[in-house]
Amino acid sequence: MCGGALNGLLLGLLFFGVRAGSEDHPLQLDPASVVVRHRDPVLVNCTTSRYHEGIGWEASEGSVNTIEGVQFVTWRLDYITDWEIGPRCYGSFLNGTDQILLRITLYKPPDSVSISVVNHTGPMKEGKQYQLQCEVQNIAPVQYLTVKWYKGETLENQTSYDDLTKTPVNVSTTLLITPTSADDGAQYSCVAELELGPEGPQPSPEVKSDPLSITVVYPPSFHSPGNEALKKTEGEEVILNCSTMGNPSPGYSWSSPLDQTDMTVTLTSLVPGTHIYSCNASNAHGSESKEFTVEIIAIVDYLPLIAGIVAISVVIISITFFFIYCVYYKNTKMGRYDLKLGMSRTQNAHVAQNGRDSSLPMKKLTQPSLRV
Ligand SMILES: *[C@@H]1O[C@H](CO)[C@@H](O)[C@H](O)[C@H]1NC(C)=O
Ligand SMILES: *[C@@H]1O[C@H](CO)[C@@H](O)[C@H](O)[C@H]1NC(C)=O
Ligand SMILES: *[C@@H]1O[C@H](CO)[C@@H](O)[C@H](O)[C@H]1NC(C)=O
Ligand SMILES: *[C@@H]1O[C@H](CO)[C@@H](O)[C@H](O)[C@H]1NC(C)=O
Ligand SMILES: *[C@@H]1O[C@H](CO)[C@@H](O)[C@H](O)[C@H]1NC(C)=O
Ligand SMILES: *[C@@H]1O[C@H](CO)[C@@H](O)[C@H](O)[C@H]1NC(C)=O
Ligand SMILES: *[C@@H]1O[C@H](CO)[C@@H](O)[C@H](O)[C@H]1NC(C)=O
Repeated sequence: MCGGALNGLLLGLLFFGVRAGSEDHPLQLDPASVVVRHRDPVLVNCTTSRYHEGIGWEASEGSVNTIEGVQFVTWRLDYITDWEIGPRCYGSFLNGTDQILLRITLYKPPDSVSISVVNHTGPMKEGKQYQLQCEVQNIAPVQYLTVKWYKGETLENQTSYDDLTKTPVNVSTTLLITPTSADDGAQYSCVAELELGPEGPQPSPEVKSDPLSITVVYPPSFHSPGNEALKKTEGEEVILNCSTMGNPSPGYSWSSPLDQTDMTVTLTSLVPGTHIYSCNASNAHGSESKEFTVEIIAIVDYLPLIAGIVAISVVIISITFFFIYCVYYKNTKMGRYDLKLGMSRTQNAHVAQNGRDSSLPMKKLTQPSLRV
């Protein structure tokens, strides 16, 4: 295992030596490869440290005739235009001729990147499939192009190309989407990015399309689906909430006797019992309805009852006391009466005899004295 790694290392060093060593390859390019934008200037030196009988450049643009007695020869263009250009440096040495090809990449960011919906205009329906198309115009070289699709900031898909065409091409990619209600207002965009590697411009050139906002239409749907049962006590406020989500905004209708067109209905004075209401939310794409069963529980008003009981109790207690008082008083009074009665009777006898009340005290005083 260790030997394998060592072999690899040695092989790598050997390979590097062959590629870079001046001993084996008499001609060298500086830089060894170029990435240049179309119509930009370019300059590459071809150098040699060997004795030669002439070195030069051969290219469709900017060829340099062989020159003797120099250590380098420069290939230079103020602006490069030939997409297919393949410059090579050559030299005549004692053991023969040598040549080296320049690895050159001409690139051009796209003139435009645009996004459209294929065969469709206007709002999209929830759940249906649509095709978005991104058109990238005049891009080169397409083999380094990546077209990325974004929904908002999220990467949705990406496409790259293996076509080796060096000249600018038009490409288009598609993205299939099946929008949901949550995608209403979503912004799609596509980005054409040229990934030209470490020798290329940093960051990679990219052109972004204008965003495409989509409108998604969908039928109403309840925040809380299913019929609702509400239990309230008499006098309590009852709110019937028929709120739905829908695009365009749904219209509402309530069954008789409400006959309203509001999203929510507030009822305040329902009589005890069970009430059933239904609402219907609808827009151009569908409708949904919901039934509300409202049970109103009667409150028994205890106050008059308590007041009545208290009143009756007071009356009963009063009567009872009166009775007790009467009986007791009568009893005690009669007891006393009996004692006095004896005296009174004698007195009364005299009174009766005398026939005058005023004489009674006199008789009271006189009588004991008479007895004594
Ligand atoms: C000339 O010699 C060099 C190094 O010795 C070698 O790399 C090159 O290939 C030779 N050229 C020819 C044409 O044989
Ligand atoms: C080419 O060589 C010339 C002269 O030595 C030097 O000034 C220039 O910087 C070199 N260019 C590159 C790209 O190496
Ligand atoms: C778009 O519509 C045209 C004509 O109506 C049709 O020929 C074409 O196939 C459609 N394209 C797609 C992708 O559906
Ligand atoms: C790309 O499309 C544009 C506009 O349709 C057109 O002018 C141009 O010639 C096309 N380029 C290629 C390489 O087809
Ligand atoms: C994403 O791209 C791949 C390859 O380009 C394609 O096969 C796939 O269908 C695309 N997905 C969508 C959702 O368009
Ligand atoms: C009705 O319900 C919706 C969704 O739950 C809520 O946003 C809204 O505030 C409610 N309306 C009332 C009046 O309670
Ligand atoms: C709701 O009302 C719409 C329009 O008035 C009607 O077409 C639809 O049938 C109703 N839906 C229900 C479930 O009652």
